[in-house]
Amino acid sequence: MKKQALISLFMLLAVAACSKNDETAATREQSTQVEQTLVKKVAPSQIKVGKDYHSLSNPEEIKVTHISLDLTVDFERKVLSGTAELEISRVNPDKKRLILDTRDLTILSVTSDGKDVPFTLMEPDPHLGTGLLIVVPKKARKITVAYETSPDASGVQWLTPQQTAGKQHPFLFTQAQAIHARSFIPLQDTPKARVTYDAIIRTPKELLAVMSAANDPDTERDGVYEFTMPQPIPSYLIALAVGDLQFKAMGERTGVYAEASWLERAAKEFEDTENMLIETEKRYGEYSWGRYDLLILPPSFPFGGMENPRLSFITPTVIAGDKSLVALIAHELAHSWSGNTITNATWRDLWLNEGFTTYLTYRIMEFIYGTDRYNMELVLGAQDLAADIASLPEKDQILAIDLRGRDADDVFSNIPYEKGALFLRELENKIGRENFDAFLLGYFEHFAFQSITTEQFIAYLDETLLAQYPEQLDKERIMQWIFQPGIPEGAPGASSDAFAIVDEARNAWLQGELRAGDIDTANWNYHQWKYFVDNLPEMTIEQMSELDAAFNFTGHQNNEIAHSWLLHAIHNDYKVAWDRLYEYLTSIGRNKLVKPLYKALSETAEGKAFAKKAFDVAKAGYHPLTVKANEGYVQ
Ligand code: BES
Ligand code: ZN
Repeated sequence: MKKQALISLFMLLAVAACSKNDETAATREQSTQVEQTLVKKVAPSQIKVGKDYHSLSNPEEIKVTHISLDLTVDFERKVLSGTAELEISRVNPDKKRLILDTRDLTILSVTSDGKDVPFTLMEPDPHLGTGLLIVVPKKARKITVAYETSPDASGVQWLTPQQTAGKQHPFLFTQAQAIHARSFIPLQDTPKARVTYDAIIRTPKELLAVMSAANDPDTERDGVYEFTMPQPIPSYLIALAVGDLQFKAMGERTGVYAEASWLERAAKEFEDTENMLIETEKRYGEYSWGRYDLLILPPSFPFGGMENPRLSFITPTVIAGDKSLVALIAHELAHSWSGNTITNATWRDLWLNEGFTTYLTYRIMEFIYGTDRYNMELVLGAQDLAADIASLPEKDQILAIDLRGRDADDVFSNIPYEKGALFLRELENKIGRENFDAFLLGYFEHFAFQSITTEQFIAYLDETLLAQYPEQLDKERIMQWIFQPGIPEGAPGASSDAFAIVDEARNAWLQGELRAGDIDTANWNYHQWKYFVDNLPEMTIEQMSELDAAFNFTGHQNNEIAHSWLLHAIHNDYKVAWDRLYEYLTSIGRNKLVKPLYKALSETAEGKAFAKKAFDVAKAGYHPLTVKANEGYVQ
């Protein structure tokens, strides 16, 4: 009883403290009275704007400004070990305690100027990891942490030679977004605190290390590799990969790193990267990062792509042979403007990062491949968004999502991506494309190398577009887009003539007017096929067989189309495709492609038993994030 009362009192105090802070943040960051009323009406009042609920660190007191890593890669023990030297700047000179984020790290020592510094590991939090509390000596400018990672680090995947394409050498890669950098570096793991970094990485001699930093394609392969990242970046963009990698140039500033057997295919598939870079620069300002290279990872890479600066990490599952899936490259490249130069201050603000990037992705696809492709990509994106709006609870349909007490990864859905992009497309439609491009150019320059909140963006809109185009734009509607669930009525639509042909053919077949083999598909492109399969209704085994006989969907080599087909195979109990399903689940670790399949399988007892069989075999090769995302479906 007493304890209960104490807890309530504590919570009351905490809430009071929060709302007090909220007021100061609001007055600081929001300009007008009207705006504050609007925010109050639509946003939960206790959110402390700009507070990162997914970091234990305290950059507003003592800020780490630069990290120097010296790490040895031990493939035998699956451990990175060495030191992180952190340069600090005292924002508040009265504060002595530096708190770093860590997860599953073994801290061997903390020193400054060669002398031991006292430290404590705090109580671990299941979402956030373990705070490393360091009492910083008075005059210290640098703190050195000697540490080792765990073989189970959430942000590192260690692959055996068997799990690589070449089968001769092991492979390692990191994936820090959203909050996994702390599992391989003790640091302030929050996007709002940017750092520059340098690194020495020691590897077995025959392997090459690459990082999200300046990489020299002609570096001597001697097992000691040095890197510098001179621009300040958020912690989630620190990345490392080590493997038997080769390099091939694609253009003056672009190239690809991959295992030998992927190299030529990848360079061909992604040969338009240099043009994408050039066309994007024309509209949105100079590329800030020097080179732009791609790293092709083994198929267990849990994402499609990751925008690690100067070196995007890319799944091999998009090497389709016909450039059909290269929107992914446009996307990761676009992050060089929206995301890497302007980042979300906290994970609540992710839509500023992924929404702008998704908007730019569509635009880049149009620059390079034309309007038909643009329209098709838009329709497919709109369908993804509609599916999420139909299935997500209202609180998760809000761009500025409330993530307090939740896993940071819960923010990733089509909402920040596609709803964010749709909002921008509405602004574009209302003020005209040229004007909107000019706005984006100004926005990218204004906030370059900063991490910003939704509220800072709104304040900037107030000063720019809302002031310039009072007739066309409406503040209340903008607030609705950002703080309300669903899609505002009258939002931009999408349509494609190429898809109208597909709809016609599908309907004629479904109504028995046409045999599958008689559909005139000779000129269909990937997008039409994808749209055809995605929009098939529930079917009988006979219908599935007829399609399969005509189009060999079960044997389809495009991973996206195979994915869509296999979902139908599960829902329609089309067992013919289950061998292929097994092969798919055990050879691909990209979560977006496998998770919906596991989920669908888990809905029947028989499916679940099959899923468990595949998962048990695949698990050893999956990334820890893919394991975590799917293990619930097979239990
Ligand atoms: N930054 C993301 C990758 C990511 C997502 C990392 C979630 C951590 C958590 C990247 O830019 C991305 O969005 N990749 C997409 C592809 C894109 C074309 C939508 C992906 O991986 O599927
Ligand atoms: Zn992205």
